[in-house]
Amino acid sequence: MKLVVIGAQWGDEGKGKIVDFLAEEADVIVRFSGGANAGHTIVHDDVTYKLHLVPSGIIAPDTRVILGSGMVIDPESLFDELDRLTAQGVDWEGRVFISDRAHLVLPHYKEIDIEQDRTRIKPIGTTGRGIGVAYAKKASRDGMRMIDSLDPAQVELLPPEDRTFIARFAARYTPLLVDLAAFMRTAAPEEHHLLEGAQGALLDIDIGTYPYVSSGSSAAAGACVGAAIGPRSIDHVLGVFKAYSTRVGNGPFPSEFRGKDTDELEELVRETGREYGVTTGRPRRCGYLDLVALRYACAVNSVDSLALTHLDVYDTVEAPKLCIAYETEAGVIEDFPSDINLLEEARPVTKSFAGWNQPIGECKTYEELPQEARSYIEFIEEFIETPISMISIGYERERTIVRRNPWKV
Ligand code: IMP
Repeated sequence: MKLVVIGAQWGDEGKGKIVDFLAEEADVIVRFSGGANAGHTIVHDDVTYKLHLVPSGIIAPDTRVILGSGMVIDPESLFDELDRLTAQGVDWEGRVFISDRAHLVLPHYKEIDIEQDRTRIKPIGTTGRGIGVAYAKKASRDGMRMIDSLDPAQVELLPPEDRTFIARFAARYTPLLVDLAAFMRTAAPEEHHLLEGAQGALLDIDIGTYPYVSSGSSAAAGACVGAAIGPRSIDHVLGVFKAYSTRVGNGPFPSEFRGKDTDELEELVRETGREYGVTTGRPRRCGYLDLVALRYACAVNSVDSLALTHLDVYDTVEAPKLCIAYETEAGVIEDFPSDINLLEEARPVTKSFAGWNQPIGECKTYEELPQEARSYIEFIEEFIETPISMISIGYERERTIVRRNPWKV
């Protein structure tokens, strides 16, 4: 079985925790896109693991994890991360593989990345990890795949700094390289493969809020090319989203908290939800859950079911609101527009709900959740026409309510 897990917003939806949870039943986890711009936090037995490149399933002891073909990989960052995992007692040797078709991020890409954003009329707010440059080189056929970096004739054409860099890391990454297409072809039919996305659907280069996006294919479609499989092999697409919305960096965000009225709510969400970037430490912009954007993300990714995270962050909110349409100069709109100017000026039409005003972190089943929380959840399901199969009510793995196991479809 192949289960795809994607972020259904602008990244930081809590995919790390959900993937870690589902990894217990996975044999193989393939991270299919992005690079060290991503940041996934996992809390296990009071230990916090912060991952950027390594798939979140690495903490599960028996899974094999693969950095897929759609990724762009900075080996320095990768081995820093793996060395940190070793120091934290995670035994990863023999379990981590890299698709030989993945592209390398070379040292000078980061400088170009930062400089390009600095001189843009409207900066995107890149994480500065060289991601956009690596994908641009890939698209213009000037990139360096992992497999190419083993060919002295190709390496010789690179600037000296890049040659030295490759020489420094090649001996460590070469034994990890695999032909991912061959690997996937020989998989036993009963194996559980989890295809893990990074960032979120609205940061995808094609379906996201272009140009305020990342440069990889973070949508479900990216799982195919990034994991070397065809679209018909996918059994279930799980979209992860938060009880509210966040975004890091620049770009339109219609349901963003604006003005004094929402100052207190913004502070509560940012502090309780720890809404600071794992990669850059930047405070995340926060807003109401945007159902217009979520419905769009579910439609264009064929999302079969959703995992709702951070619901507990709203425990003390008197009257949680949901954004159900946008008000624009062109009138009220209910579809997510491609016009970036329209999206910039859009303001949320909201619907209020009764708050539950009690901690929900100890609830073990859906039925134990307060009626008000269930009403909030059920409204979302009806609006999006997609079932919510999992609900996360705290950072720890145990604080997860499973209504329907996505592995059992
Ligand atoms: P880049 O991919 O580093 O160039 O960043 C492009 C945009 O995507 C910026 O607004 C980043 O803040 C955002 N971004 C990139 N990766 C992530 C992520 O993993 N979570 C949230 N935002 C991200």
